[in-house]
Amino acid sequence: MTRALVFQRNARWKTRARRTSAENNQSQGASAVTLEPAELTFTDVEAAAQRITGRVRPLTVARLGEVAGIAGDVFAGLEFLQYTGTFKARGAQNFLEAHRASGTLPKAGVTIASGGNAGLACAWAAGQQGIPATVFLPENAPRVKADRLHGYGADVRLIGHEYAEALAACHEFAAQSGALVSHAYDNPLIAAGAGTLMLELVAAQPELDTVVVSVGGGGLFAGIATVARQFGIRTIAVEPENCRALNEALTRGEVTEVPVNSVAADSLGARSVSETALRAAQHPLVESVLVPDDAIVNARRYLWAEHRLLVEHAAATAFAGLTHASGYRPDSGEKVAVVLCGANTDPSDVAV
Ligand SMILES: Cc1ncc(COP(=O)(O)O)c(C=O)c1O
Repeated sequence: MTRALVFQRNARWKTRARRTSAENNQSQGASAVTLEPAELTFTDVEAAAQRITGRVRPLTVARLGEVAGIAGDVFAGLEFLQYTGTFKARGAQNFLEAHRASGTLPKAGVTIASGGNAGLACAWAAGQQGIPATVFLPENAPRVKADRLHGYGADVRLIGHEYAEALAACHEFAAQSGALVSHAYDNPLIAAGAGTLMLELVAAQPELDTVVVSVGGGGLFAGIATVARQFGIRTIAVEPENCRALNEALTRGEVTEVPVNSVAADSLGARSVSETALRAAQHPLVESVLVPDDAIVNARRYLWAEHRLLVEHAAATAFAGLTHASGYRPDSGEKVAVVLCGANTDPSDVAV
């Protein structure tokens, strides 16, 4: 990085105005009528926080101290300690709680097509709300996924061999039963729920300069970036090189489908990002970085070997966004937090 760039970045930290919540609301109030539906607002995230506080575990923030080769002061948001093992619990609770409050939570409950962390969180939140969850998966989904969903009380339906078939069945079921369709990431309530963890991160580390987060379909990223920019905090959006839906959308200026193939694809393998995520990424305080799979694998091993943090590849992707040469390089003294977003992983391959 050139001296001029380093200087600009440092100057930006020093002069950055940390806006209060009241100021933020005021500025949003002025522009609220002009916001496109795809744009997530800070107010959406604050409303989500009010709904889900007490229903999810608060974020634990840990200082990692020295991290080899990184100049900054590195913190980790231990969101993998969340119910169900990922941040998805926040969005799922916000989604159902908002529908309950507006009287649109049907007796038929909620339905989703997801064998991953979103499906687990949806099933868990439905159990907490005392409503049924019907989860659609392809027939070839790993048995362990269906078993965990059963464990949360979900009615699991195995349909077809492609995700698209499970999705179509989910929508057909909703049309017939009246069940509410949820989504893994492309829903403002889901993204706003995810963003609540950033409110907690800022409360724990008010002087934070930068937050690093992994991106799949972009719900987590959109929620986090929406809060981060209100406080002048930079967001680094990290994707595996071969799961680059956000990076590609930014390059083209529009949401586009990409092929997905990565060790982290089980959680980050969305073929396209939401419009909301693209909008959030088109902001000067957001940087998109790509990391190769070997860096993700190494980052996951490093987190276990050096910090006794066992996470899934999606979370290690964010960390690799700091440790790999193609990632973000913080300056000396820069306060950086990495969101360790999930730990639904097979621990047998990290042992050292
Ligand atoms: C652990 C974990 N991290 C990150 C992501 C990416 O989230 P999003 O699709 O909102 O970008 C997911 C999505 O399933 C996930 O399960």
